[in-house]
Amino acid sequence: STKSVRVAITGAAGQIGYAILFRIASGQMFGPDTAVHLNLLELEVALPALEGVKMELDDCAFPLLQSITTTSDANVAFKDVDWALLIGAFPRKAGMERKDLLEKNAGIFTGQGKAINDNAKNTCKVLVVGNPCNTNAYIAKSMAPNIPARNFFAMTMLDQNRAVTQLAQKANAHNTDVSNVTIWGNHSSTQYPDFYNATISGKPVTESISDEEWLKGDFIKTVQQRGAAIIKARGLSSAASAANAAVDTVRNLVTPTPEGKHFSVAVCSDGSYGIPEGLMFGYPVRSNGEEWEIVQGISHNEFAQEKIAATTKELSEERDAVQHLLT
Ligand code: NAI
Repeated sequence: STKSVRVAITGAAGQIGYAILFRIASGQMFGPDTAVHLNLLELEVALPALEGVKMELDDCAFPLLQSITTTSDANVAFKDVDWALLIGAFPRKAGMERKDLLEKNAGIFTGQGKAINDNAKNTCKVLVVGNPCNTNAYIAKSMAPNIPARNFFAMTMLDQNRAVTQLAQKANAHNTDVSNVTIWGNHSSTQYPDFYNATISGKPVTESISDEEWLKGDFIKTVQQRGAAIIKARGLSSAASAANAAVDTVRNLVTPTPEGKHFSVAVCSDGSYGIPEGLMFGYPVRSNGEEWEIVQGISHNEFAQEKIAATTKELSEERDAVQHLLT
């Protein structure tokens, strides 16, 4: 019998949805030997558009695609799923405070957390992409006591991929030469893209790039503000690269990590590196294909410690702002 996986995707008619569904259905997320069932969740108003996306999926005649369910009912969407990719979220509108954004999304992610708890397999894994993704993941995790906390993830891979390319270009290297870039903390402008512990062709980044002021300044700023730069250039937020990062994240979690390597994803803190337990914090992670672990023993200089303290503070404040909604 062939393996199969049932995947829920929320916000499936959105921009990221349009880029990711075809890659999942073609086997790029779960591999060429795993058949795929797609459970697509959208707001009622977007169901006609979602129907069009489904028609296009049909028209690809993907060999691995077994079924497509479209619905606006979260209980249907999360029924018996192995994976849930939470992409749909309430977008930030002009003049909206961060607190309003957190509360709007808390409404969505408490409901979806509950629906996952009640309907998904209890081995289900959940990757949150919709922003603010770390805290949305914190909310969903809090509402799903039947699912282990370690099955919840928030996406920092797009930041990692952005950082890798910036470093490669600066060093006149190829992006495959760059390893072990970790995005510590929040997927936000407080994230810390750790170049000190990353390597280019096996050597510390600071050996290939001697301009440490660039690394501490423009490099970090470019990665932190890349999302805004894309919006400015494209008139729309990054979608294909975000979908690509979600494919990379799941792929990294379901395949063994090569010896000596690690990748970035936000997971439920167990207190590692002094981060408060329970926060969804971006860490360096390794997987054996089934289980993952946080890489221990990475050292941080004073500069890094300050950056990590700042992103920890922001995530703690986000947690405190939504805590009263989690009953
Ligand atoms: P989009 O606006 O094109 O699509 C979002 C879709 O979600 C819409 O079709 C909407 O109808 C749907 N939706 C909204 N609320 C929903 C709900 N309660 N249930 C089901 N569907 C719902 O947005 P796009 O570009 O696809 O981005 C989606 C999210 O991903 C945004 O929050 C964005 O900020 C975030 N994002 C995260 C990144 C990361 O690195 N973590 C990178 C890029 C985007």
